[in-house]
Amino acid sequence: MNLENRLIRYADLKPCTNAFIDTRSPGSDKKENFTLIGPGVAENPNQHVHISIPHGFNIGGARQPAGCLNSQHSHLTEEVFVIHQGTWAFLSGVNADDGKIVLTEGDIISIPMDIFRGFENVGEELGYLHAVLGGDDPGRVLWAPQVFDLAKKYGLILLEDGSLVDSTLGETVPEGKKQMPVTSAQQIAEHRVVNSEAMEDIVQRSNTFAWAKNSCLAKFDGIEEVALVGPPNAAEDLPAAPLDRLHGFVVRGLRLHPNAAIPAHIRYEEEVIFVHQGQLEIDVDGETLVLGKGDTFTTPIEANRSFKQVGDDECILYVTRRNDTPKAPKFI
Ligand SMILES: [Fe+2]
Repeated sequence: MNLENRLIRYADLKPCTNAFIDTRSPGSDKKENFTLIGPGVAENPNQHVHISIPHGFNIGGARQPAGCLNSQHSHLTEEVFVIHQGTWAFLSGVNADDGKIVLTEGDIISIPMDIFRGFENVGEELGYLHAVLGGDDPGRVLWAPQVFDLAKKYGLILLEDGSLVDSTLGETVPEGKKQMPVTSAQQIAEHRVVNSEAMEDIVQRSNTFAWAKNSCLAKFDGIEEVALVGPPNAAEDLPAAPLDRLHGFVVRGLRLHPNAAIPAHIRYEEEVIFVHQGQLEIDVDGETLVLGKGDTFTTPIEANRSFKQVGDDECILYVTRRNDTPKAPKFI
């Protein structure tokens, strides 16, 4: 097996800078969108998909310079963000004025489908969000009405099939295709109003993570694990995560102190490893890779895997697995 085909190095990420309808709108025109494990929700069919193997969820990324905004929208499936780099404000409400919460590196937010959301890099540096969207096909984005107006002003038209027409390139709406109707008052009314205080219920700050020492992985020296998204799961010896709604996937945090290792085991679901901090040496069926900060790797189902912390820093991983209650790992 060629493990490189299942690895996306942070340095090799291929962005799409015109994935969405708000791509020309001032304040949003510098955002880069990534589809790591596809197909994502991009409105540009030319969006590069790094790995197209179906996982039951999508892995994406958003990179934005300071001050850059991703416009208000909602989705048909769950949307989870891990703050990998920078300081970000998440804004709720169709007009971005219902609520606001500011998150920093390592924090996680899971935004229910019935909340309009947008997010802005409010730090001084370039910021990066690691994203998980539910389902193999997360469907289309529902944009707030003002996003359509701004896009039109800058020459972009969204079609019903989710694609974009760029009138500044001389493109016109193709025969037989229809423009996406502007989001209606009724569609807006199907969303909840969530204030800043209530937004605390959909986040987990990394300085309050309940790192456990007694999960099936954390029983090894120098390993801690925390349930971040998902219901209780006896098979993993993990309690309910604070974000315990059913997502169709779970997210776990894994911390490996210097020289800590997790011996060879098998899993029965897709397992995507995102390296938030440090370096991880991973052995899969006898092949070895070293993952660094910002790298993403998807481990083949039923492959024999072992992990080891390498390098100077302790290693912090965010791991996404298919299903609400994944099976226990089988140690070899
Ligand atoms: Fe989104």
